[in-house]
Amino acid sequence: MKKIVLLFSCCLSVFQAICQNAAPPAIIPEPVQMIQNAGVFSLPPNITISAPGQASIKNGLEILQQRLTVATGYKVLFGNQAAAATIKLELNKTADAAIGNEGYHLNVTTSSITISANQPAGLFYGIQTLMQLFPPAIESKSVINNMKWQIPCVTITDYPRFGWRGLMFDVSRHFFSKKDVEDFIDQMARYKYNLFHWHLTDDEGWRIEIKSYPNLTIKGAWSVAKQGYFGTFSTPLPDEPKTNGGFYTQQDIKEVIQYAKDRFVNILPEIDVPGHSMAAIASYPDLSCTSGADNYEVISGESFMDWSHGAPPIALKDNTLCPANEKVYVFLDKVMTEIAALFPFEYIHVGGDECPKNFWEKSDAIKALMQKEGLTTMEQVQSYFEKRLEKIVESKGKKFMGWDEILEGGLAPNAAVMSWRGEKGGIEAAKLKHDVVMSPTTYAYVDYMQGDEIIEPHIYATLRLKKAYEFEPIPAGVDPKYIKGGQANLWSEQLFNVRHMQYMLWPRAFAIAECVWSPKEKKDWNHFTTKVEDQFKRYDIEQVKYAPSMYDPIFTAKNNNGQLQIELATEIDGLDIYYSFDNSFPDNFYPKYTAALTPPKDAVMMKVITYRGDKPIGRMIAMPIDVMQKRAGLKK
Ligand code: ACM
Repeated sequence: MKKIVLLFSCCLSVFQAICQNAAPPAIIPEPVQMIQNAGVFSLPPNITISAPGQASIKNGLEILQQRLTVATGYKVLFGNQAAAATIKLELNKTADAAIGNEGYHLNVTTSSITISANQPAGLFYGIQTLMQLFPPAIESKSVINNMKWQIPCVTITDYPRFGWRGLMFDVSRHFFSKKDVEDFIDQMARYKYNLFHWHLTDDEGWRIEIKSYPNLTIKGAWSVAKQGYFGTFSTPLPDEPKTNGGFYTQQDIKEVIQYAKDRFVNILPEIDVPGHSMAAIASYPDLSCTSGADNYEVISGESFMDWSHGAPPIALKDNTLCPANEKVYVFLDKVMTEIAALFPFEYIHVGGDECPKNFWEKSDAIKALMQKEGLTTMEQVQSYFEKRLEKIVESKGKKFMGWDEILEGGLAPNAAVMSWRGEKGGIEAAKLKHDVVMSPTTYAYVDYMQGDEIIEPHIYATLRLKKAYEFEPIPAGVDPKYIKGGQANLWSEQLFNVRHMQYMLWPRAFAIAECVWSPKEKKDWNHFTTKVEDQFKRYDIEQVKYAPSMYDPIFTAKNNNGQLQIELATEIDGLDIYYSFDNSFPDNFYPKYTAALTPPKDAVMMKVITYRGDKPIGRMIAMPIDVMQKRAGLKK
């Protein structure tokens, strides 16, 4: 009997090894080169790690230690004796030109793991890849007993496609604590993002302590708490308490910068001017061209812009700094002095987007400025402002970056452009030989809905995972040397809490990570989706929220000679869709979708759900027939 058990367990181990070798490791972002070799490495209960003494890798080692011990219950010992170490981290004595400053080699054999790199950043990224080789259970926050902590033997060579791999987080529309921001940075670093764009100011809150202008955070960081659909809230009443919001002290900022640095993440601060400045104006009304500004308050999510004519919007309250007011440049000089002293990153982002011009058009001060400077359009007025601001930023030893509106009316001489309104601004700036970061709404706006609006929290636009995965940062016909990289942007109008922030970010930020790190030819949608599912398993264990929207069907409503026709599709392969028109909840005993459907004459609701095999995987979606009729143009 013992022999049979032994034989069975031997067969099982061989089978496990074969299985582990069979599926390619699920690494996001996909490495440049990965060769899977025979065999597995088994983590021993006493792990020894040899590592170089550099202070800059200390934090990476702490992360590695923590991530290798929490779930396993194993122990880690550090030393610099490579010969006997289980995991060897090595800095190359002679630089390997192929992998640059952020690349690494990772070699897993049956007896040891070696990560080598030219720089500590490369070792850090090698550690991130290594962790993804372990089974998802490694993410457990408590010890899992009786688990074999095995990883496949692999030889990986890896380095990034772009030096700028960014994620933007808007902490103005809704404030997120220092801890939330650090968690965000922690999570992004795992996918080898290296740039955290911190949108610190907007109409709804000024979030950074500026010692020379204390009202910015005494008044400008606070609004009235509301819930519902941001942008349509009722105008706050005078007696409603302004207890919603918050800000980061300069000490907080320094700590977050260090936290990010330990994870090889730079922080790009954004001070969004001259539009999006209501929090600043409410704090210092003198910064406005408009006399009634003394009564302005920080916006609490009420509507105060008219977008019905397109961009730029018509402001119902003047949320702009006044380009004709010298006090504005004194203000900006002082703010930039403090920002430049805090943030070590070479760029400061100054916004420049969506600046309404209707109050400027009425302002005598602006008219006088135009005459004096020979400006003929409002775009030139903004350009005048941007050029002066560029000089201020540069006088602090920093480079100037703004959203693509800064091109209008003439780009400041050395400005870098962040292209968000599609690729057009990026193409134009690169043709003018300016540096560009691509973050087009078309692929990289992760605040947009990621599935059908019948089920997703409503935003005015949609960006599915598949589309995000198509992001190509170098637009056709552009000299790649001007494209610094790409980033995804997470605006927070509709983000009321951390869980929903995570829901919006993942999995689309996996997609963008791969678009900015991996070689273009390595991208493979079907393989990517299997890797996303592996990350989902990790997130389930770690309790990080993600959107399951890729499992839900895509509805297309068509007008077929006056009759509604409904087409269903799935974003990922291998799913079946079941449906009902009788209001009951479909399962895999219901009709399976195979071809376009015409709803029965009196049906009011279509319900659908996706399955993989005999397991439900998508969410139950109830789609009213009249919504489909409206989408098909059959009903108003
Ligand atoms: C932007 O999305 N307004 C830059």
